Amino acid sequence: MKAALLFLLLTASAAAQTAAELYQTSCAACHGAQMQGAAQYSPLRKRDWLYGGSKAEMVRTVTYGIAGKEMIPWGKVLSAQQIEGLVDYIIASRDAMPAAPAAKPDTLKLADYTVHIERLVETGFRSSPWGIEFVDAHRALITEQRGGLRWLVDGKLDPEPILGLPETVQYGTGGMLDLAIDPDYALNGWIYIGYVHPLGNSGRTDERPAMTRIIRGRVIDYRWVQQELLFNVPDDLYFINRGRWGCRMLFDKAGQLYFTIGDIRENDDVQKLNKPAGKTYRINRDGSIPKDNPYAGRADALQAIFTIGNRNVQGIAQHPVTGQIWGTEHGPMGGDELNILRLGRNYGWPVISYGIDYDGKPITNLTEKEGMEQPVKYWKPSPALSAMEFYTGDLFPKWKNQAFVGALVFQEIKRLKLDGEKVAEEEIFMKGYGRVRDIKTGPEGAIYILLNEPDQVLRLTPAK
Ligand code: HEC
Repeated sequence: MKAALLFLLLTASAAAQTAAELYQTSCAACHGAQMQGAAQYSPLRKRDWLYGGSKAEMVRTVTYGIAGKEMIPWGKVLSAQQIEGLVDYIIASRDAMPAAPAAKPDTLKLADYTVHIERLVETGFRSSPWGIEFVDAHRALITEQRGGLRWLVDGKLDPEPILGLPETVQYGTGGMLDLAIDPDYALNGWIYIGYVHPLGNSGRTDERPAMTRIIRGRVIDYRWVQQELLFNVPDDLYFINRGRWGCRMLFDKAGQLYFTIGDIRENDDVQKLNKPAGKTYRINRDGSIPKDNPYAGRADALQAIFTIGNRNVQGIAQHPVTGQIWGTEHGPMGGDELNILRLGRNYGWPVISYGIDYDGKPITNLTEKEGMEQPVKYWKPSPALSAMEFYTGDLFPKWKNQAFVGALVFQEIKRLKLDGEKVAEEEIFMKGYGRVRDIKTGPEGAIYILLNEPDQVLRLTPAK
């Protein structure tokens, strides 16, 4: 009995030893000796996984590799047992990480207000919440990145998910992204979704070509029904296993629908009018092309184009007074931008940029060029900008019409007081609460925030 136990312990520790050694010989060259990662090689000692953090998902990633990346299918080199050992080793090292930071305060003293932070939803999402939109005074819809749509009713997450949504990709920054609500929702019930659509009907989504698509449909009795396709591109413009798909959406006051598609890591396409990468788009509610779109009626261009030369617009909002469309650009290292998106203009990516690539290589040595727009502001180092919202409520009167911008990596919100087309004042707050994914003014004037890691919904109101 004792001998058997000892034998078990010995083999277990020998296996752990082997995994640690195997890690050093096979994986450390890219992922680092301490799993810390480097440049384009993601760290493995972390909680936030690009290709799935469950044991099964990690075994799958390591066995089959990642198409289009230097991560080879290790199933051809290592045995299934060795791969499982490696994954257990990675998981054990993650579990040994210090616990998540202590709870953050629920009141913040800011320049204009003391703000009360309420954690409306702390658990219950099936995957990371990505976009939130209110449909009336009580209810909002929230997209879940791996293909879900949920109701938030009077500040509570409805446990019942909405079923019947289209399949979306299950990796990286793709998935079910933003949503928009028809300005006449009360009359027609239309809900618009931007998501990454994988071609074909079966198989792993990272092995199938994919592209951002815009659809609309209605939610009736927790089912997505009457779906219509509003924007897509031909199959030969789809890509296998990429990132930077966009996609933020916005209805302007005239009822036209804007959406964004990132550069899909396909720099050469961004300045081309017949390729979807790196643009913002504008369509009518039914998917038709507004007559004054810059390339309306041109057979050599995607007619929905509104602007070109955008790397990855992750936030888009209309100024409540001027009506200008503003956008945040998730840039390369040191190149996150705030822009005013004007019809037909070229924002310069990848010809001009203030950033350098994540592997340290310069992308371009130009920061300006004739015919290309300059940002209103850019940030170095990059906070990894995400959503943007102009505050339009009454609970924080001093903040009326000011801009709020979220950041993923820097885990913060920037309040930007604008003076015309300049940023007059910048205040950073809510640092370290999580990756800020979306920001919206609620119907009662509170500020709603979607966080990722942890996946939560927060509500900001003035402290009593
Ligand atoms: C030649 C470089 C290289 C080697 C060697 C390598 N990888 Fe990777 N690995 C990558 C790249 C590149 C990615 C994708 C990173 C990205 O998309 O940002 C990746 C991704 C991963 C991921 C997914 C990370 C996530 O966030 O979901 C896992 C898990 C992983 N590797 C494990 C391993 C293991 C285990 C080994 C050793 C058997 C290994 N890798 C060896 C380059 C490498």
